Order: sequence, then C-alpha cells, then structure tokens
Amino acid sequence: EDADYNKICMKFEHLMETIPKGNGWREKHLYNYNGFWLHPNSIKNNLILHTYFKSQPSDIFLASAMKSGTTWLKALMFSTINRHRYSFSDHPLLHHGPHSSFPLLDFETHPITDFTHLPSPRLFATHFPRTLLPSCITYSCKFVYVCRDPKDVLISKWHFMSNHRSKDLPPLLLEDAFELFCEEISDYGPFWEHVLSYWRASLEFPEKTLFLKYEEIKEQPELCSFENLSNLEVNKKGVEKFGKFLEVENRHYFRKGKIGDWRNYLSEEMRKRIDGITHDKLKGSGLIL
Ligand code: A3P
Repeated sequence: EDADYNKICMKFEHLMETIPKGNGWREKHLYNYNGFWLHPNSIKNNLILHTYFKSQPSDIFLASAMKSGTTWLKALMFSTINRHRYSFSDHPLLHHGPHSSFPLLDFETHPITDFTHLPSPRLFATHFPRTLLPSCITYSCKFVYVCRDPKDVLISKWHFMSNHRSKDLPPLLLEDAFELFCEEISDYGPFWEHVLSYWRASLEFPEKTLFLKYEEIKEQPELCSFENLSNLEVNKKGVEKFGKFLEVENRHYFRKGKIGDWRNYLSEEMRKRIDGITHDKLKGSGLIL
C-alpha cells in the first residue's frame, strides 16, 4: 500500500509542475487535470480514488457540478432509499445536515475510508466529471445526475466561493467570476463538459443513469423542499466536515433555492454570452438547459 501511495505522491508532484494553471475562485490557483479545472487536493484525492476505491455493483452515485442542487438531491436520495427505515417524526434529516447523510468521495485522503460497513445499496456523492471517475465505478454503478441553468449555477457558486475565499486574496468580483466561468475555469469545470459527460452516459446507458434537471424537480412539491430543510435548526447552525481539512457551515448550502436568481445579477449582455456558450456547447447533444 505504501508503495502505491508513494507512486501517487510522485505523480502528483510531477503533475503540479507540468499541468496548466488558472485563476482560482476559493484559492489562488486551479489546475487543469485531464481537461477539468481542479483544486490541487482534488487532483490528489482523484488519484487516491483510482488506486484504492473498491466499488460494488449496487452502489448509487449522486453526481453533480457544484451548486447544481447536490444538497437537495442528497436529502432526496437518502430519504427515498431509506423510506422504510425511518419515520418522518424521527428522521435523521431532522437532526443532521443532508451532507452527513452519505459521503462525498472527492475528499477522500490517504488512507481511504473503509466503506464496506455501509448498508447496501451504498450511496456516494461526487463532483468529478464522469470521465475522471475510475472505470470500476462508471462500468458497474448507477448514477443520479442533477444539472441546473448555468446562469444560476454561476451566481450560486460566486456567493459560495466568496464566502469561503481565502482571506489572503482580494474579494472575487462578479465580473471576474463571470469571465472565469465563461472561459470555463472554475472548480470541476468546464461546466458544459461536466454536464455533457453525464448526459452522454444517460443516452448510452439509460438504465444506469438518471439525468435530472433542478428546474424540473423544483416544480414538484416534496418533503425535502428548500423551505423545510433550510428552516431546520441543524441547517441554520450546524457545520459539516469534509475530509480532514474542510469545514462548511450548513447554512451556506441553503442560500435562496430559486430558479432565475441570476436575473438580479447578470446584465443582458452577460446573459447573452452564457446562453450563447450553452447553445454552442450543447448543440446536437439533444440536451437543452
Ligand atoms: P442558490 O445559491 O441559488 O440559492 P449545492 O447543493 O449543489 O451546493 O447547490 C446549492 C444550491 O442549491 C443553492 O442555490 C441552494 O440554495 C440550493 N438548494 C439547497 N437546498 C435546496 C432545496 N431543498 N431545494 C431547492 N434548492 C436547494
């Protein structure tokens, strides 16, 4: 095992010296690893997943680009899979933030957690695009993917990243975030390639990939609504720990939960630019966002 980990460390160091670097949102830099912009830790964690993670065919993955509705879908998937296990009056989601309901694999460091004790089907979340996941996962496991209007993703991400931005850096202006997003430099971006990686899989393996749109699920009233979840004490005051280093207050996962909040931020010119990119990128894919 240690020899494997040494190899990972050497590969990681080599990558850091050789792969392209761009401006970061939360920290100074993001790195382009196999076509996607990632925080250095995510690149190392990705190498760790490829070496150590053992999937089971019954595993179900929630995949999403950041700020597309991950928190919401986590709550929905957890409550659906466990619908016979818990009653509404004493449901874990009343006392724990949705993020603690199942693990986000992207933050797995060495030594990787042993997930064999989890009940089947095991649930995992990831922000990695499909092309960066180990093939043991993409070949055998099921996926739920949630996507969202990129304009709302941009605004949500800008707020979230501004809240968590390193204090050593100047504030991230919306204009700069917009420019980086359009140039496709943002954590786990390019956004459009991310969506397409799962969209194509949903066409190729429809029985394995459930492709959802934030806007469509929003139309259906349900138990895990923004209003219900965001008003729980645990989601107003609680803190979620990701891996060893990252802590996020749950309230940051519940900002507005609206469709079209971008209208309060983007000019007509900015809207046109993003919609133009979306149109060009998704042309011929059959997907409309
Ligand atoms: P806004 O910033 O536009 O409000 P993620 O969970 O992928 O990090 O995405 C966060 C976004 O989903 C935030 O969007 C947040 O408010 C919204 N959200 C969180 N819980 C939700 C829910 N139950 N229903 C709808 N939207 C929700």
